Amino acid sequence: MENLHNLLINRRSIRRYKPDTLNPDDVRLILEAALLSPSSKSSRAWQLVVVEDRETLERMSQCKAAGSAPIAKAPLAVVVAMDCAKDDAWIEDASVASTLMMLQAADLGIGSCWIEIRDRYQADGTPAQEVIQELLGIPETMPIVSVITFGYKDEERKPQDVEKLRWENVHLGRWQGENS
Ligand SMILES: Cc1cc2nc3c(=O)[nH]c(=O)nc-3n(C[C@H](O)[C@H](O)[C@H](O)COP(=O)(O)O)c2cc1C
Repeated sequence: MENLHNLLINRRSIRRYKPDTLNPDDVRLILEAALLSPSSKSSRAWQLVVVEDRETLERMSQCKAAGSAPIAKAPLAVVVAMDCAKDDAWIEDASVASTLMMLQAADLGIGSCWIEIRDRYQADGTPAQEVIQELLGIPETMPIVSVITFGYKDEERKPQDVEKLRWENVHLGRWQGENS
């Protein structure tokens, strides 16, 4: 296991993947990360759809006008849908689960990328969520927040530069800035 701070510096969105299938034990750990994540009132309302079928991934990659291409080349994608009737903080809870899966993947040396689905559309205005719900049989009462792609990295990304972090966005004690 890597030191968490190093992991956070080195984790970058990876959009190009080798075609190799992921180790099933690693996939299990990634899914466990979501199931272990904290949730509002412990509602645990995530519904994770795990997709490895190439043709389905290809079709999913066309769910929105831009930004979903990485799905086509990923060996694995996890759709994070939410049973929002059971969870009034469903966007937050989906986001936490998505993030923890990405961090677990990074710790295993697996690349990942968040593909935003909520409030995203195809060129003709069809919601990305509808495309994916229909393709995978997800009920329309279960909104989809993200699709997280996973795969062994086929691109190198530089670690983040801690010298360039936006410390100006941190306010100590009280708001400090132009309007203070
Ligand atoms: C809420 C959210 C939505 C995102 N949506 C997309 C997306 O639809 N397609 C994509 O390629 N990357 C997407 N990303 C990845 C961001 O572009 C990426 O995190 C950002 O450019 C910072 O780069 P890094 O992750 O390599 O540090 C998303 C990230 C977040 C957190």
